[in-house]
Amino acid sequence: MRNWLNTAALLLFTLVLVPAASAAPDAAACLGCHGSMEGAVNVNQEKFSKSVHGSFDCVTCHMTLKGAQHQGLSGAKPDKAIQELATAISSKSKIDPVAQAACATCHPDVYEAYKASVHGQNVMVKKSSDGPVCTSCHGSPHYIQPKASKESAVNHFNVVQTCGVCHEEKIMSEKYGFSPQVMERYKESFHGRKLRLGQSGAPACPDCHGAHDIKSPKDPASPVAGLNKIATCGKCHSGATPKFVAAITHQAPDPVAHFTEIALIILTVSVFLFICLHVLLDIYADIRDRLLRKGGKHE
Ligand code: HEC
Ligand code: HEC
Ligand code: HEC
Ligand code: HEC
Ligand code: HEC
Ligand code: HEC
Ligand code: HEC
Repeated sequence: MRNWLNTAALLLFTLVLVPAASAAPDAAACLGCHGSMEGAVNVNQEKFSKSVHGSFDCVTCHMTLKGAQHQGLSGAKPDKAIQELATAISSKSKIDPVAQAACATCHPDVYEAYKASVHGQNVMVKKSSDGPVCTSCHGSPHYIQPKASKESAVNHFNVVQTCGVCHEEKIMSEKYGFSPQVMERYKESFHGRKLRLGQSGAPACPDCHGAHDIKSPKDPASPVAGLNKIATCGKCHSGATPKFVAAITHQAPDPVAHFTEIALIILTVSVFLFICLHVLLDIYADIRDRLLRKGGKHE
């Protein structure tokens, strides 16, 4: 009888407590496979553990997992807010939108700002796959470093390249009607060149546009719309005036000034060619005269 009770207790323990314990598998349970798998599904254990999220279980973000290989390996059920976010971003985040939405549980303010931004609207309202989600700017979700780290995709000296992945694409600018030479013009600007030389005070894209709350310059809420620039440029150029802040744009140079410049170049080159031609003709005339004179003596 006693034995039977023991067996029953053990059975109860196995049925109730063990599955409850394995309902929240730790990272090691996943890395057993994903630590040694090849390709995109590989997660490097060492790099993961050194990332800002390295102390979390994988299921903190990957709350729901599909497929037989993941039987019994899910995390806590995502709440309604996360589920709705996941649906809203699924046009862009195709592998595990719940994991992408899970960032909102710990970074709610960032997600709110993103939702209202031109980028968030693109993904969530236009249902497009062109705009960025969190991991488009921050890189692999498994290896995120603090922004001060040189390895961070949004570090002051790396972020220009991160924005450029899309803003250098001609297809994007054609589709959305923003100027295609934004990157080129920034890079050749005073600011871009100073940043390239390692001057940490030189502005990268977020210093003028923001990061999570980026708006179109046509939106009056944009920090680079109209006179908002006085405050934006004023962060670094104290006493910035309306005239001063008009100095920076990514647009091609003024067409009139541009054509005047081209006309000047053409003029200079033609004057130079004219002088050359004149000198050559002069030499020719000189030689011809001498030859004629020589010929005269012979006769
Ligand atoms: C028994 C080995 C195994 C274990 C353990 C395992 N996975 Fe997987 N996982 C796989 C395989 C196989 C795939 C499919 C790869 C493919 O499609 O190329 C996969 C795919 C995935 C994907 C991609 C999306 C998908 O569902 O196809 C995610 C995310 C994922 N696993 C997360 C996890 C997490 C988190 C854990 C731990 C809770 C885990 N895995 C544990 C084998 C495993
Ligand atoms: C901070 C949240 C977070 C944590 C923690 C996390 N992941 Fe992920 N993981 C993501 C996101 C976001 C994606 C991309 C989803 C998408 O693009 O739809 C992803 C993608 C994946 C993929 C698919 C990659 C691909 O390109 O096919 C695998 C596999 C995966 N994770 C495994 C793991 C494993 C194993 C762990 C734990 C060691 C882990 N993840 C921890 C957020 C996380
Ligand atoms: C369970 C909570 C949690 C989840 C989920 C989570 N994070 Fe974090 N995140 C943190 C904590 C804690 C830190 C470290 C905070 C610190 O050092 O200031 C952090 C740091 C970061 C940082 C670096 C901040 C810095 O100092 O520059 C970024 C970027 C980041 N998280 C993005 C994400 C993204 C993207 C996701 C979703 C894929 C995500 N987080 C999901 C808790 C979380
Ligand atoms: C358009 C690119 C972009 C997108 C999309 C983006 N981030 Fe960021 N994120 C940045 C930049 C740039 C910084 C650094 C800002 C700075 O230097 O002040 C940053 C900083 C952070 C930080 C550090 C704290 C802070 O506010 O400075 C966290 C946390 C973070 N992002 C989380 C997220 C999450 C979560 C998402 C998705 C909702 C997300 N980011 C989407 C570009 C982006
Ligand atoms: C994954 C691609 C992607 C990345 C990365 C990205 N963007 Fe964008 N961005 C877009 C798309 C697409 C639009 C157009 C959205 C729309 O109008 O629906 C856009 C729009 C904008 C606009 C508004 C343009 C206008 O005229 O309306 C600004 C400003 C902008 N992005 C700045 C940035 C900055 C700064 C970064 C880096 C911190 C960045 N973007 C990173 C894809 C991207
Ligand atoms: C994050 C700080 C920062 C912001 C924001 C910023 N600048 Fe600058 N700017 C600099 C630095 C640094 C230099 C280089 C100064 C030097 O080395 O002489 C510079 C140089 C310049 C120059 C050329 C040199 C000069 O001082 O006349 C102009 C013009 C200029 N900025 C205009 C602007 C305008 C207009 C804005 C706003 C749209 C702006 N800047 C925003 C930091 C900034
Ligand atoms: C010194 C401040 C400053 C910096 C740095 C800056 N921008 Fe801008 N950006 C502006 C201003 C001002 C406008 C609005 C006037 C214009 O269109 O040129 C603008 C407009 C834009 C537009 C919309 C252009 C259009 O045709 O509609 C995009 C996209 C953009 N910026 C992206 C970027 C990216 C990407 C970076 C980094 C490589 C960047 N900006 C760096 C000030 C800045």
